Amino acid sequence: MTTNSDIPGIEDDTRPNAGRVYDFFLGGNHNFEVDRAVARKLLDVYPVLPRILRMLRWFLGFSIRRMLDEGFTQFIDFASGLPIQDHIHQIAPTGTRVIYSDKDEVTVAYAKKIVADNPDVIYLQCEANHPEKLLNSGIVEKMFDRNKKVAIGMSGISYFLPNEDLIHALDTLYNWARKGDKLFISELSEKDLGEEKKEGKPRLSQDLFAQMGSPFYYRTKEEFISMVPKWNLLPPGCQRCDEWLNLENFLSTDDDKEIFGPFYGAFFEK
Ligand SMILES: C[S@@+](CC[C@H](N)C(=O)[O-])C[C@H]1O[C@@H](n2cnc3c(N)ncnc32)[C@H](O)[C@@H]1O
Repeated sequence: MTTNSDIPGIEDDTRPNAGRVYDFFLGGNHNFEVDRAVARKLLDVYPVLPRILRMLRWFLGFSIRRMLDEGFTQFIDFASGLPIQDHIHQIAPTGTRVIYSDKDEVTVAYAKKIVADNPDVIYLQCEANHPEKLLNSGIVEKMFDRNKKVAIGMSGISYFLPNEDLIHALDTLYNWARKGDKLFISELSEKDLGEEKKEGKPRLSQDLFAQMGSPFYYRTKEEFISMVPKWNLLPPGCQRCDEWLNLENFLSTDDDKEIFGPFYGAFFEK
């Protein structure tokens, strides 16, 4: 197991890190006691959280496999979190070029360490709100053959971005992309948010995540699609993640279906 002193910039393990808390919920070992303490508090309030995060990670894996099946060998990913637990380079065959990024400097420091030995993979700090910083940094030219198509990941991030930032990011990516490049996204809709109907439970979004400095921005599918006017939405369109993943057996009760319903995903092509 990695120890704190192995990781540049995170020797102070008195502060929890969202990426490592996420890792704990996914069953990983890239987390410290301070992260697990936060995870336990979250679990008290919201016991279903690990299942939601696992479903989102499954959707990420589904998206990656779909891109690989279509012959993509180059990925650029925003808000990647830690590159563990079935992330791109772990699923893709050797030789697939991957540019990961995240805004959180501790996540970036830790992630750089994780991928340090892989010459096909790089991890950079970049806010998804401003993808141009990464796209114009010269790193893409170094890593990619632009005669080959690129798959762009925006998984588990759009609902952390205010409308104007999401519109800017998706427009910037479109202008940068070449014909045939694809974009995969997961989103969160306010519609049918089961938890809000349950008395005595705080809203996951506005209470817990706002307290951690990451408020959620809900959008209906229609609002979301209106923010991606240039990209071609691929059939069958925006679908619930559990539908993409055929999770009927995993979501056994009506409660489950209500809780997991607001998360949906979509694929776009330039
Ligand atoms: C829910 S995780 C998503 C991880 C991974 N993409 C997935 O789908 O499983 C959210 C990640 O977004 C990062 N993040 C939050 N706001 C961001 C922003 N504005 N730009 C880039 N990364 C951001 C967090 O640091 C965290 O690692």
